[in-house]
Amino acid sequence: MREWIDTLFETKNLLQMGHHQRAEDANLGLGWLYYSLARILRPARVVVIGSFRGFVPLVFGKALADNSEGGRVSFIDPSLVDDFWKDPSAVQKYFEGLGASNIEHFQMTTQQFVMTESYRSLGEVGLVFIDGYHSEEQARFDYEAFQDRMSAEGIALFHDSVRVRTSRMYGPDRLYEHRVKCFVDTLKSSSSLQVFDLPFGDGVTLVRRAECPVAP
Ligand SMILES: C[S@@+](CC[C@H](N)C(=O)[O-])C[C@H]1O[C@@H](n2cnc3c(N)ncnc32)[C@H](O)[C@@H]1O
Repeated sequence: MREWIDTLFETKNLLQMGHHQRAEDANLGLGWLYYSLARILRPARVVVIGSFRGFVPLVFGKALADNSEGGRVSFIDPSLVDDFWKDPSAVQKYFEGLGASNIEHFQMTTQQFVMTESYRSLGEVGLVFIDGYHSEEQARFDYEAFQDRMSAEGIALFHDSVRVRTSRMYGPDRLYEHRVKCFVDTLKSSSSLQVFDLPFGDGVTLVRRAECPVAP
């Protein structure tokens, strides 16, 4: 694991985006949580919506490869920040170079993905990580797109979910407010859900059904 983390953090961009990572002591930060949830749930399918340079899909890919279920990551990102996710063979080479051959990238928005055969045939989703466009409306769309696909023990994770703040992600002339927190706050009023904030780095919120799954 140490060797894998050291290799990962040689790509300096994988230390960005507020997951509370630190190269000096090979600390994945919130990545430990993503990794451990995937090892505990052992899902066949993880969905990641949005990523700057793939930190989250890579950590989930590593966890699923370390499990013995042969699980796969579906990664949805239309590459709206820059051209990084635009060339399919470069994307595949990038992920494989960092040890992940179980990530499938869909260069599209969630709105486009839900119209595809891949969405229809996705099967049960154990974890969905929501880190795309951070408006309240898009956070709701991303959550609702997978809500009915989640397994009984499934968990949705929202990144950048604990503060309202301005982002320059799409350029200085296209400022926008992160308002994921506003959507997460609406989920907190539902008695059928458990909602738990972790305010480390840029923050992440875990959402699961309050009802306990039936014992195996
Ligand atoms: C860089 S990440 C993380 C968000 C970032 N912290 C911010 O300030 O906005 C955002 C990613 O979400 C992707 N994205 C934007 N809109 C999307 C949508 N509708 N569906 C899926 N991904 C989307 C972008 O291409 C980008 O790579």
